[in-house]
Amino acid sequence: MNKEIKPPERIKGTIHLPADKSIAQRSALFALLSQESSLITNYPAAEDPQTALSCIAQLGAKIQSADRRIRIEGTGRDGMRVPGEIIDCGNSGTVMRMLAGIVAGAGIPATLAGDASLSHRPMKRIIDPLEQMGALIRAAQGDRPPLEIRRDKTFTPIDYRLPVASAQLKSCVLLAGLFGEKTTRVIETVACRNHTEIMLGLPVLRKGKEHIISSNRGIAIPPQNLEIPGDFSAAAFWLVAASILEDSEIVMPSSGVNPTRCAALHILRRMGADIEMEMMKKAGKEPVATLRVRSAKLSPADIHPEEIPNAIDELPVLCVAMAFADGVSRITGAEELRFKESDRLAAIQNVLEAGGVRVEAHAGGLTIYGDPKRKIRAAQHDSCHDHRIAMSAAILSLKSDGVSEIKNAEAAAVSYPEFWSHLDSLAHI
Ligand code: S3P
Repeated sequence: MNKEIKPPERIKGTIHLPADKSIAQRSALFALLSQESSLITNYPAAEDPQTALSCIAQLGAKIQSADRRIRIEGTGRDGMRVPGEIIDCGNSGTVMRMLAGIVAGAGIPATLAGDASLSHRPMKRIIDPLEQMGALIRAAQGDRPPLEIRRDKTFTPIDYRLPVASAQLKSCVLLAGLFGEKTTRVIETVACRNHTEIMLGLPVLRKGKEHIISSNRGIAIPPQNLEIPGDFSAAAFWLVAASILEDSEIVMPSSGVNPTRCAALHILRRMGADIEMEMMKKAGKEPVATLRVRSAKLSPADIHPEEIPNAIDELPVLCVAMAFADGVSRITGAEELRFKESDRLAAIQNVLEAGGVRVEAHAGGLTIYGDPKRKIRAAQHDSCHDHRIAMSAAILSLKSDGVSEIKNAEAAAVSYPEFWSHLDSLAHI
């Protein structure tokens, strides 16, 4: 599907955000591991969370769903069945990496495969620790999916210092650790999203900058009875859109605002964005708030390596904001972006350059030459089958001098199927 974007005069309105993809996928996987029945409300229709449901069904979970309410009867840690077929993780790196930890820990032989994009993503980061714990993993070209996972040896708990600030890797090791009599410890020195620790109630010891998170068989896995909050990563597109368009205002009730997720909010505020957080409260164990954003004059910003993990998914759209800042912005230490659903550093550089923005690439980042008065050249942008690139290109196109087109726009449905209809409803032409 190709989608035409006509630049509007302004965008205005209230948005009901899609439910958080990271939390939703975890709720399904953890409900599988619980022995009690889970009731999850506001479960998203997006492709990745739906993939999580089909994967847990293959391992024996019983699922009933009506609207956005999902009841899951888990198998418990020891009741999973050996899947009769390959488990298809679709486009989801989170499902593949976390499920790898679960089946390796449980000793359930399974093959995990994915779509063309996931089949190119590096898996050595999970293969190494899982093999240290006793798994045997065969991967295409040494470290690409499909992953054939077995465990013939006994389970060995490990102390594991994260070599990359990755929540998927952290979660993978901790989930495998849930099957060990002795404790597995993951040590992180740069905090990355902590939904797994929160939702499973894992013990976290803070020692200065280090977080030491533990898991073992003694930890009871709670049923997942929660309402999934709105996805801050989806909100970020509108935070940027309303900031760069004149006379614009968007309100987003019930957005997740977990501090390990919303560095983009602080970066945008540092750039001068007018963003208010109202009605802060807890939805289950996660903080949520209403976000209100209005048009603003943006200054340039440098995004530092230690900020990257907590803004990782919002970096493409932050690059769009930087194109309209009054000066030069720099992103450093973001090499992880090259290993997402596409090489997001290259993909967003192409999008910005097609629009006429000057961009310089470095191994781990970009320098973006901003101009608040600039008109963007109308262009045809390729989503590279990456949801966040499709949506970032659409936000850039809101400022173009004509009609732009997003190729393979259906990619947005991986995390935000309602994105295009929300855009139509907000845009005042
Ligand atoms: C995710 C973690 C991040 C993020 C991804 C979702 C998660 O990946 O980019 O979209 O749900 O744990 P990494 O952990 O690989 O950085």
